[in-house]
Amino acid sequence: MASAAELNTKHGIAGVAEVVDGNGGLAKVAVTTSAASGEMYLQGGTVTSWKPAGADEVIFVSSKTKWDPACAIRGGVPVCFPWFGAKTGAQAGDKSAPAHGFVRARAWQLESIARRGELVVVNMFIENDEGTRKLWPASFRLTQRATFGAEMGMELVMTNSGDVPLRYEAALHTYFRVGDVNQVRVRGLDGVHYIDKVDSNRVKPQSGEVVITGETDRVYLNTAGTVELEDPAMRRRIHIAKENSLATVVWNPWAAKAKAMSDLGDDEWQRFVCVETCNVGDYAVTLSPSAQHSMKVIYSLALV
Ligand code: BG6
Repeated sequence: MASAAELNTKHGIAGVAEVVDGNGGLAKVAVTTSAASGEMYLQGGTVTSWKPAGADEVIFVSSKTKWDPACAIRGGVPVCFPWFGAKTGAQAGDKSAPAHGFVRARAWQLESIARRGELVVVNMFIENDEGTRKLWPASFRLTQRATFGAEMGMELVMTNSGDVPLRYEAALHTYFRVGDVNQVRVRGLDGVHYIDKVDSNRVKPQSGEVVITGETDRVYLNTAGTVELEDPAMRRRIHIAKENSLATVVWNPWAAKAKAMSDLGDDEWQRFVCVETCNVGDYAVTLSPSAQHSMKVIYSLALV
């Protein structure tokens, strides 16, 4: 695998987007423009920072992240693929299947870095190899295209490079940094039905805004519209506008579960909420040979 220095020579843009050794010696692209700063690791193709000019950091990363090539980063925007959760969808019953798929705990490849005015676009991808075929016998290429600017864009592009149809789940498992999870409100899901994973997967209707008052693990169904995350403690609202995604997951582990997680500080559950742009469960994507699917999300900030 190429070193950060070699990748920087090939793809870096001096002073704007440089490939450097990040935590644990894992390579990352560090972006700095007048519009924003940000970071994206090759590990999992994971965005770990986005800070629009003049604003506080938007993305949460755990202080206890392992920064290990064999582990997912705890925080940032891990990519869940080709299944979501444990043993779901096409992988049901396979006990060796790692939770949330395998791409979040592998090194991706840096394809390109481009500057477009005040925007920086970073493309990373992962393809099938011998190791992935043992877990999922498919030929694929998955690209994460991250656009850093006053807004943050992510586009997950999946190509079926094999000769049989594929079915997969995908999630952009974004950890939003919040001032106090007790005070946050998630808007835009009123009336939507959700699967309550902390209540035997019962399907329930959402009434009003989502508030986090305990362990929360919900898959909101048939959600194409924009969701807003209001964070009074940080006096801001994060807009989450998506395309080609029909499910939204809202997750916070709360105190007890957080304590049991070795890669999360005991009190850190209060500092994030995951609002995930997904196609999971009944919304898994079927792709015929050579076909491509793109799931997109754009984050923007407003002060309140
Ligand atoms: C969420 C799931 O997306 O991710 C939860 O809905 C899960 O069920 C959480 O607990 C964290 O998963 P992991 O594998 O990163 O610990």
